[in-house]
Amino acid sequence: MDYIVSGKYPLNGKLRVYGAKNAVLPILAGSILGGVVFLKNCPRLSDVSYTLEILRRLGCRVAESGDEIIINPAPANSWRLDAGPAGEMRSSVNFLGALIGRYGRAELPMPGGCRLGSRPIDLHIKAFREMGVEVDVSGGIIYAEGQPRGTDVHLDFPSVGATENVILAAVTAKGITTLSNAAREPEIADLCNFLSAMGARIHGAGTATVRIEGVPFLRGCEYSVMPDRIVAATYMCAAVAAGGEIEIENVIRPHLEAVADALRRCGAEIYFSSYGAAVRAPRVIHSPGIVRTEVYPGFPTDCQSQLMAVMACGRESGVVVENIFESRFKIVPELRRMGAEIRCQGPTAIVRGGSLHGCELKAEDLRGGAALVIAALGAEGESRISGTDYIARGYQDLAGELRSVGARISFQ
Ligand code: EPZ
Repeated sequence: MDYIVSGKYPLNGKLRVYGAKNAVLPILAGSILGGVVFLKNCPRLSDVSYTLEILRRLGCRVAESGDEIIINPAPANSWRLDAGPAGEMRSSVNFLGALIGRYGRAELPMPGGCRLGSRPIDLHIKAFREMGVEVDVSGGIIYAEGQPRGTDVHLDFPSVGATENVILAAVTAKGITTLSNAAREPEIADLCNFLSAMGARIHGAGTATVRIEGVPFLRGCEYSVMPDRIVAATYMCAAVAAGGEIEIENVIRPHLEAVADALRRCGAEIYFSSYGAAVRAPRVIHSPGIVRTEVYPGFPTDCQSQLMAVMACGRESGVVVENIFESRFKIVPELRRMGAEIRCQGPTAIVRGGSLHGCELKAEDLRGGAALVIAALGAEGESRISGTDYIARGYQDLAGELRSVGARISFQ
């Protein structure tokens, strides 16, 4: 299904942010470690559906109703994931830590996910080996065996997935694990809060040093997933590109400070209240200057494409430096066809906006797809966007959500 977007219609109204994809996915993997889990505020995304299918194939009983999911892991009896859904997404790698934590064994395909570069798992493997687990990769399958034991683990890079995997393996390991140079993304703290509700003993969640005292058993729990900071940031960028003024409910201010700062440099007015944010677009979009993606709390790589789309709708030159992934400029050729002047040199893109005109566009990854919608909202005329299945991986109904605040988007 393609999106047909008519540009230059300002947005006005209120949007509410749902649960975070990158929090619920590791939490779902961790749900095999204890008793019955009742999750609330779960987003309805294709990546979540894939993950629920993985849980069912492991033998868990899973029930869903709207944004609530109940998982009973008791009947689960397998540490093997077949290709199927596990090969579809990056987050399936979190099952490596959870399966090792539960069985001391795991077999699963190398993870899939958006093509943003090589996306190796060397940091995960190094950490598990330091915890006494044998891990090998052969024929595209990851084989792991050994009961993890508490130890000191240092990550050479604060990888989000590797941090989550060490924590998932350590919560029921014998001994104390001290993880240094851990990722500090808010989704890590959400995973730790979930595991603590199950009885895990975790100190320093969300900081660069996390200490986990292994416990023999974890119980079930009820937990509500944090709001999706990247969905909120995407809405903010859409409002700036299209023009108008929107309110966004259910946001956590510290999660959005870096994005708000960049958009204010584009001329937007952004105000936070205790539960939400208000975004007023500038009459003319200015350049934010140089924006560098960094680990949290720096500017999030998952909002880099969306900001580039905003910059392409402006008239001034700005610079984007992508420091996290090797290949996350896939939307550049599409924006050029819309009339933007963009020059790339390695991780740096110099973006000079122009009066963008609508045209046929093709999404090639999740956040790039959302960015093309944003560019189309700020362009003259009509755009047709294909590859929208990518967008469905991380947004419940981006077109419908934006249409509810005045965007002219239809489906074909
Ligand atoms: C998570 O991916 C998110 N995905 C990504 O969101 C997000 O962009 C990323 O963290 C960074 O914030 C989920 O949570 C499901 P990393 P992850 O391990 O865990 C390199 C989205 O759009 N690296 O922090 O894969 C890696 O290649 C997605 O929602 C190694 O070299 O990210 C990358 O360049 C996209 N070796 C960098 O580190 C490793 O062993 C960051 O990767 C692991 C990672």
